[in-house]
Amino acid sequence: MTIRFEASCPDGLCPGWSFILKGETPVEANKFEINFMCDQDDRIAFHFNPRFTESDIICNSFMANHWGKEERCSNFPFGIEEPFQIEICSDNEHFHVYIDDTKIMQYKHRVEDLKTITKVQVVNDVNISSLEIAKKHHY
Ligand code: GAL
Repeated sequence: MTIRFEASCPDGLCPGWSFILKGETPVEANKFEINFMCDQDDRIAFHFNPRFTESDIICNSFMANHWGKEERCSNFPFGIEEPFQIEICSDNEHFHVYIDDTKIMQYKHRVEDLKTITKVQVVNDVNISSLEIAKKHHY
Protein backbone atom coordinates (compact mmCIF):
# COMPACT_ATOMS: atom_id res chain seq x y z
CA MET A 1 0.00 0.00 0.00
CA THR A 2 1.43 3.35 -1.03
CA ILE A 3 -0.02 6.40 0.65
CA ARG A 4 -0.02 9.33 -1.79
CA PHE A 5 -1.76 11.82 0.46
CA GLU A 6 -3.15 11.94 3.97
CA ALA A 7 -4.72 14.76 5.94
CA SER A 8 -6.46 15.06 9.27
CA CYS A 9 -9.17 17.48 10.18
CA PRO A 10 -9.83 17.16 13.93
CA ASP A 11 -13.20 18.93 13.74
CA GLY A 12 -14.49 16.44 11.18
CA LEU A 13 -14.79 16.45 7.40
CA CYS A 14 -18.44 15.51 7.13
CA PRO A 15 -20.64 17.20 6.30
CA GLY A 16 -19.55 20.44 4.74
CA TRP A 17 -16.07 19.83 3.38
CA SER A 18 -15.48 19.14 -0.26
CA PHE A 19 -12.51 17.04 -1.38
CA ILE A 20 -11.30 17.71 -4.92
CA LEU A 21 -8.55 15.61 -6.45
CA LYS A 22 -7.09 16.25 -9.88
CA GLY A 23 -4.85 13.55 -11.21
CA GLU A 24 -4.32 10.77 -13.67
CA THR A 25 -3.65 7.08 -13.45
CA PRO A 26 -0.22 5.71 -14.36
CA VAL A 27 0.26 3.28 -17.29
CA GLU A 28 0.19 0.12 -15.23
CA ALA A 29 -2.64 1.14 -12.95
CA ASN A 30 -4.38 -1.62 -11.07
CA LYS A 31 -6.42 0.26 -8.49
CA PHE A 32 -6.46 3.28 -6.26
CA GLU A 33 -8.42 4.28 -3.18
CA ILE A 34 -9.76 7.33 -1.46
CA ASN A 35 -10.57 6.58 2.17
CA PHE A 36 -12.53 8.75 4.57
CA MET A 37 -11.51 7.47 7.97
CA CYS A 38 -12.06 7.80 11.70
CA ASP A 39 -8.74 8.89 13.20
CA GLN A 40 -9.55 7.53 16.63
CA ASP A 41 -9.91 3.91 15.54
CA ASP A 42 -9.49 1.85 12.41
CA ARG A 43 -12.88 2.48 10.82
CA ILE A 44 -13.12 3.51 7.18
CA ALA A 45 -16.37 5.40 6.77
CA PHE A 46 -16.12 5.50 2.98
CA HIS A 47 -13.72 3.47 0.84
CA PHE A 48 -13.88 4.62 -2.80
CA ASN A 49 -11.90 2.13 -4.86
CA PRO A 50 -11.72 2.29 -8.68
CA ARG A 51 -10.37 -1.07 -9.95
CA PHE A 52 -8.99 -1.01 -13.47
CA THR A 53 -8.91 -4.80 -13.65
CA GLU A 54 -12.68 -4.94 -13.16
CA SER A 55 -13.68 -1.57 -14.69
CA ASP A 56 -15.77 -1.05 -11.59
CA ILE A 57 -15.69 1.32 -8.63
CA ILE A 58 -16.04 -0.62 -5.38
CA CYS A 59 -17.35 1.30 -2.39
CA ASN A 60 -17.54 -0.01 1.13
CA SER A 61 -16.97 0.71 4.82
CA PHE A 62 -14.62 -1.05 7.24
CA MET A 63 -16.17 -1.20 10.69
CA ALA A 64 -15.70 -3.48 13.70
CA ASN A 65 -12.73 -5.07 11.90
CA HIS A 66 -14.79 -6.15 8.90
CA TRP A 67 -15.62 -4.95 5.43
CA GLY A 68 -19.34 -4.46 4.97
CA LYS A 69 -21.48 -5.03 1.91
CA GLU A 70 -19.88 -3.67 -1.26
CA GLU A 71 -21.68 -1.13 -3.38
CA ARG A 72 -20.46 -1.27 -6.97
CA CYS A 73 -20.66 1.53 -9.47
CA SER A 74 -20.16 0.30 -13.02
CA ASN A 75 -20.05 3.81 -14.40
CA PHE A 76 -16.25 3.79 -14.83
CA PRO A 77 -15.09 7.02 -16.45
CA PHE A 78 -11.35 6.51 -15.83
CA GLY A 79 -8.88 5.93 -18.64
CA ILE A 80 -5.21 5.08 -18.29
CA GLU A 81 -3.07 8.22 -18.45
CA GLU A 82 -6.15 10.38 -18.85
CA PRO A 83 -6.55 13.28 -16.47
CA PHE A 84 -9.64 13.40 -14.28
CA GLN A 85 -11.14 15.31 -11.40
CA ILE A 86 -12.91 13.59 -8.51
CA GLU A 87 -14.98 15.63 -6.10
CA ILE A 88 -16.38 14.02 -2.97
CA CYS A 89 -18.59 15.94 -0.60
CA SER A 90 -21.19 14.93 1.94
CA ASP A 91 -24.39 16.04 3.55
CA ASN A 92 -26.06 14.48 6.57
CA GLU A 93 -27.26 11.48 4.56
CA HIS A 94 -24.71 10.64 1.89
CA PHE A 95 -21.29 11.03 0.36
CA HIS A 96 -21.73 12.40 -3.16
CA VAL A 97 -19.17 11.65 -5.88
CA TYR A 98 -18.65 13.73 -9.02
CA ILE A 99 -16.17 12.89 -11.74
CA ASP A 100 -15.35 15.71 -14.15
CA ASP A 101 -18.37 17.55 -12.71
CA THR A 102 -20.81 14.73 -13.46
CA LYS A 103 -22.39 13.01 -10.49
CA ILE A 104 -21.68 9.28 -10.72
CA MET A 105 -22.91 7.95 -7.40
CA GLN A 106 -23.83 8.54 -3.81
CA TYR A 107 -23.12 6.43 -0.75
CA LYS A 108 -25.33 6.38 2.30
CA HIS A 109 -23.46 7.05 5.53
CA ARG A 110 -22.84 3.94 7.60
CA VAL A 111 -20.77 5.63 10.32
CA GLU A 112 -23.45 7.33 12.37
CA ASP A 113 -21.44 9.92 14.24
CA LEU A 114 -20.20 11.97 11.30
CA LYS A 115 -17.98 14.11 13.54
CA THR A 116 -15.68 11.11 14.02
CA ILE A 117 -14.73 11.11 10.30
CA THR A 118 -11.54 13.12 10.62
CA LYS A 119 -9.04 11.79 8.10
CA VAL A 120 -8.81 11.36 4.35
CA GLN A 121 -6.17 9.47 2.45
CA VAL A 122 -5.34 8.64 -1.16
CA VAL A 123 -3.65 5.31 -1.76
CA ASN A 124 -1.93 3.42 -4.62
CA ASP A 125 -2.08 3.91 -8.40
CA VAL A 126 -2.82 7.57 -8.93
CA ASN A 127 -0.62 10.52 -9.80
CA ILE A 128 -1.98 13.54 -7.96
CA SER A 129 -1.59 16.88 -9.70
CA SER A 130 -3.61 18.90 -7.20
CA LEU A 131 -5.73 18.33 -4.17
CA GLU A 132 -8.06 20.74 -2.46
CA ILE A 133 -10.10 20.34 0.70
CA ALA A 134 -12.48 23.26 0.93
CA LYS A 135 -15.46 24.19 3.03
CA LYS A 136 -18.29 24.43 0.56
CA HIS A 137 -21.46 24.28 2.64
CA HIS A 138 -22.31 25.41 6.12
CA TYR A 139 -24.06 23.05 8.47
C1 GAL B 1 -11.34 -6.28 -0.40
C2 GAL B 1 -10.03 -5.54 -0.61
C3 GAL B 1 -10.03 -4.27 0.21
C4 GAL B 1 -11.28 -3.47 -0.11
C5 GAL B 1 -12.52 -4.32 0.05
C6 GAL B 1 -13.77 -3.55 -0.29
O1 GAL B 1 -11.39 -7.43 -1.20
O2 GAL B 1 -8.95 -6.37 -0.15
O3 GAL B 1 -8.87 -3.51 -0.08
O4 GAL B 1 -11.20 -2.96 -1.43
O5 GAL B 1 -12.43 -5.45 -0.77
O6 GAL B 1 -14.91 -4.34 -0.15
